[in-house]
Amino acid sequence: MRFEPNAPCPCGSGRKYKKCHRAFEEAPSHEKYGAAQGVYAESWRRTSELQSARGDYAWMAEQLGGHKAKQLFDIGTGSGHGLVALSAYFGPDLRIVGVDENLACLKIAGQTLANARLPAQVIARLETEETQFGFVQRGGAIPNPLPRPIALIEADLLTDEHLEETLVQDGPFDLVTIWLTGAHMWRRYNAYSLHRGARSEHDLRIILQNEAYELADRILRPGGLLQVIDRAEAPTTDAVRDEYFAAHGDQADPTSLVVKEVTYRLWQPPEGAPTQLIDTLPGERPNDFPEPQLALVSILSEKA
Ligand SMILES: C[S@@+](CC[C@H](N)C(=O)[O-])C[C@H]1O[C@@H](n2cnc3c(N)ncnc32)[C@H](O)[C@@H]1O
Repeated sequence: MRFEPNAPCPCGSGRKYKKCHRAFEEAPSHEKYGAAQGVYAESWRRTSELQSARGDYAWMAEQLGGHKAKQLFDIGTGSGHGLVALSAYFGPDLRIVGVDENLACLKIAGQTLANARLPAQVIARLETEETQFGFVQRGGAIPNPLPRPIALIEADLLTDEHLEETLVQDGPFDLVTIWLTGAHMWRRYNAYSLHRGARSEHDLRIILQNEAYELADRILRPGGLLQVIDRAEAPTTDAVRDEYFAAHGDQADPTSLVVKEVTYRLWQPPEGAPTQLIDTLPGERPNDFPEPQLALVSILSEKA
């Protein structure tokens, strides 16, 4: 089907088709991964701006209340609005290392941080290749020492050969954050996603969060925190709250992290937000179960 270039994009982003999905639809097969990253980055920037304006990111940072952090590792930095909120919360001396597999997102994050007078250096280093096993992103060494105060590294948390060594040398960290996990629509054709049999965005989210728990265990100082934030069923009852403790307790099980706190804020999609968000529901529900209320749910774990 051909779409009119100036008509609204059928994805519902509110942008013209020629400025949204056309680049992706028309890209040859081997360029679709990069084209999907570009479309995603622009949609996420607009979604993040709306979330930021209504205080979602400030709330997320506040869930770390009472804890001190000087050194932060952020997984899936997106357009950087979360880092601006974390820096405002902990103060301008907060040292930040962020990673994202999407360079288009990191470039936007660099700009978001610059606009907030937070100097960040983007480290671009991945080449994407289409292989018979799916798309593969490969990158060379990461600069050592990392630029300060803010380094934004193009890296896939699940497959990067150099990232962990860099983080171990650079750490230990006081805090690891992984907020609102999601990815572009061609991520499921990444060779590793295919290898792991990931069939949905939910599968990809669990795989990435499990890795976040394990990596956090290796790079946090004792007493350091991992904060996972999902859009998910609001834990308005003790039963649902217990399910969050149990589900994240399972994810933390191979590590020395212990789930300490679950907090939430009721959530509606921001009006006009182009990114469709996938929700994580912690347990099985009967078919006649009423539609759950959605929330931003913060799950804090502490390293022993
Ligand atoms: C929905 S955005 C959230 C961004 C940010 N955390 C926030 O709260 O605004 C998720 C980000 O995670 C990134 N991401 C997904 N899988 C990743 C992976 N395996 N390694 C690094 N980044 C990843 C995506 O590219 C995307 O920018």
